[in-house]
Amino acid sequence: MAEPTTDILHVGIDLGTSRSAISASNGERFVVESYVGWPVDMVAKKVLKRTVMIGHEAVANRTMLDLHRPLERGLLKEGSDKDVLAVRELLKHLLALVGVSEKGKVDSANVRAVVGVPAASLRTNKQYLRNSMKGIVDSLMIVSEPFAVAYALDALLHTMIIDIGAGTSDFCVMKGRYPTEEDQRTLTNAGDSIDTQLLKLIEERYPQANVTVFMVREWKEKYSFVGDNGEKIIVTAPVRGVPTEMDITADMRAACETVVPPTIETMLDLLSRVEPEFQERVRNNVILSGGGGLIRGLDKTLEDALKQVGGGKVKDMEDPVFIGSDGGLALALDAPDTDWEKLSA
Ligand SMILES: Nc1ncnc2c1ncn2[C@@H]1O[C@H](COP(=O)(O)OP(=O)(O)OP(=O)(O)O)[C@@H](O)[C@H]1O
Ligand SMILES: [Mg+2]
Repeated sequence: MAEPTTDILHVGIDLGTSRSAISASNGERFVVESYVGWPVDMVAKKVLKRTVMIGHEAVANRTMLDLHRPLERGLLKEGSDKDVLAVRELLKHLLALVGVSEKGKVDSANVRAVVGVPAASLRTNKQYLRNSMKGIVDSLMIVSEPFAVAYALDALLHTMIIDIGAGTSDFCVMKGRYPTEEDQRTLTNAGDSIDTQLLKLIEERYPQANVTVFMVREWKEKYSFVGDNGEKIIVTAPVRGVPTEMDITADMRAACETVVPPTIETMLDLLSRVEPEFQERVRNNVILSGGGGLIRGLDKTLEDALKQVGGGKVKDMEDPVFIGSDGGLALALDAPDTDWEKLSA
């Protein structure tokens, strides 16, 4: 048996609605889709030869699985036992990927984890998340996702982070200290709500077409945009079994633009609460992150809205996948002992 090391392993985990990422102090980084599934019956078990499946594998085999997405609308689903179990499986899986296991190289007793969750979840699900981590890690710090992003970018003073994920859009104004409730906002207008809207619009326009939310999401991730860009979006879907081309340009734009008004309203509201002499600096340091931040034209649209209040700059991030987990890791490495919560098993 391998000797467990006594070194502390620090990890940052971004627990997302659609994707969850982990960055560890041993240099390992992984991202998985936030799906957990269990074989529905004996046949499925025989085919899959596994008791549980996580991530992309779970989505690919979903016809054989009781599939769960443990976070929805930015909240951990506490209703069913299966969802509780799913969060735990997901967290254990992420930790196993970086080498933490009950009998593995790194003992869970030596793990310190910073977990980034949507700001709304931070308010309502903290105790639940703590329980999910019991016996999996030794010390825990739960932070909001946009704060972890700010930490990764070292954008800690007079900045605003807008993290548009799948379940939620999270806003945070950084004032050079741990953010408080008043510095943060969460909206449920985000990637998932765009998918729902887009599916509905396409079904209305092409009632005969056979389209699923999984197809719609793929199209969105390829072609999303807001504003006028003169481009045409043609996709193919089966109509009564026959692959048929459909023009979804107007629907794509309309669906993506549903997040624009609430995002602008929240951004301007948070800005108006910043002390007057710092508002200009914050306006010039707006950072767009998360998968939804990749919507083409969104940065420009938000900048246009800032013109009403004196102008500003919105930067978007090209590769947001590990920003949250890297920020969590940086925080884990910096945090003094007193900032950690000890979890007794
Ligand atoms: N190019 C793109 N254009 C628009 N949306 C995209 C693009 N790429 C990814 N997305 C969407 O971004 C969302 C995932 O982003 P992200 O990984 O930041 O979310 P998450 O962290 O899992 O969710 P949350 O932060 O709400 O918990 C999904 O809805 C995905 O479809
Ligand atoms: Mg996220």
